[in-house]
Amino acid sequence: MADILPTGPEPELEDLLAARPQLRMHGQDGLCLEDVPLNAIADRYGTPVWVYGAGTMRARLAALRAAFAAEALPVDIHYAVKANDHLAILNLFRSLGAGADIVSLGEFLRARQAGIAPADIVYSGVGKSAAELEMALAAGIGQINAESAEEVEMISAIAARAGLTACLALRMNPDVDAGTHAKITTGLADNKFGIAAAEIPPLYAHAARLPGIRMTGIAVHIGSQILSTEPYRLAYGKAAGMIRALRAAGQTVDSLDLGGGLGIGYRDEPGLTPRAFAAMARQEIGGLDVRLMMEPGRFLTAPGGVLLASVILEKRAAKRFVVLDAAMNDLMRPAMYEAWHGILPVGAAAFQSPRGPADVVGPVCETADIFAQDRALPEFKPGARVALLDAGAYGAVMSSNYNARPRAAAVLVHGGQFQLITRRQSHEALWEDEIIPALD
Ligand code: LLP
Repeated sequence: MADILPTGPEPELEDLLAARPQLRMHGQDGLCLEDVPLNAIADRYGTPVWVYGAGTMRARLAALRAAFAAEALPVDIHYAVKANDHLAILNLFRSLGAGADIVSLGEFLRARQAGIAPADIVYSGVGKSAAELEMALAAGIGQINAESAEEVEMISAIAARAGLTACLALRMNPDVDAGTHAKITTGLADNKFGIAAAEIPPLYAHAARLPGIRMTGIAVHIGSQILSTEPYRLAYGKAAGMIRALRAAGQTVDSLDLGGGLGIGYRDEPGLTPRAFAAMARQEIGGLDVRLMMEPGRFLTAPGGVLLASVILEKRAAKRFVVLDAAMNDLMRPAMYEAWHGILPVGAAAFQSPRGPADVVGPVCETADIFAQDRALPEFKPGARVALLDAGAYGAVMSSNYNARPRAAAVLVHGGQFQLITRRQSHEALWEDEIIPALD
């Protein structure tokens, strides 16, 4: 992990609450998300359950747009579907005029299912199959961000064969260290992502002459959970230089896709503010005269979501373990990236009770099934509820059925109401696609 990540004492529960205006501890109802008591949701739909606040997500999109507007930089936001691909979330962003950034046919079809027009969809990713490209092109996808010379040839062949024109951007790998976790950095030369800067000018010129292709511009995406404007500054500076060089060589460059990656404060690290980001963007690319695009995922959805879980029991051994009914198969991030997620008691009384260190774990048979270590938390009785915070991005989308655990339900909070948006998976659904061959 990079040294910009926090290392000091952990924030108090009060600090976690204070940093999240979407959450409030009500004296009687306990923890509320956008004024809806989480207990009411758990009573109705059980746990574990994902709860998403539409108001929070809407406000974050608005804040990002406002920051760019304040710099007089119009920007087209293509929400990165991978962060949370629920149709209700995609529909929310569509209703607010956002497009989608997708990386698979499945994501394309989800975006379409939520009513996002093909023209408002950008296709990223290092391995787009021929079948996927054919379908996306036939449907009229807005832009494809190509990640290699090989892929450019493939797209040209497929588009030309179908008598179509692909709007193509080249994803430049700016060779910038975004200072994030090694597993989510993408902008370094030895990552699998993007095309080295030196290869872009000849490839751009070559691609512009290929049948079935119209070159639209350049894309950069350097990683995820980025907490400083500096790596972006370097990357966008290089992208701007590239666009000027391409234009000087006679190429048409209409768009610049700034990617995503804006980091949020999971613990007490200051997240990247839209204002700082937009101000940096204006400095680096302000005078370029291009259509600006962005592909944020986490920034828009993470803080709006919680994973609501119940305490199965507290186990007193060498340590104190709080065992939840949610596990790594639901929220993978702590096990996979050692990610820190805030954990708040849902009950008002528990919130006021004395705290002591505990490991918060799930029931899955893996040592990595730990949500938090030595976290200062009150004592919980069986059935008490907790909320794992900032779980609206890379939560449900990364969950699995490991240990034959059905996928959790999901609920959307909007306008003071709540509504089930994913039914809890049934046990029968776990094996409905399986076939037992007759062996005897
Ligand atoms: N555009 C491209 C091309 C991407 O690869 C990604 C994320 C995004 C946009 C959106 O990035 P965001 O704004 O959400 O940071 N599972 C990891 C994060 C993986 C990100 C992959 N690419 C996690 O849980 O932290």
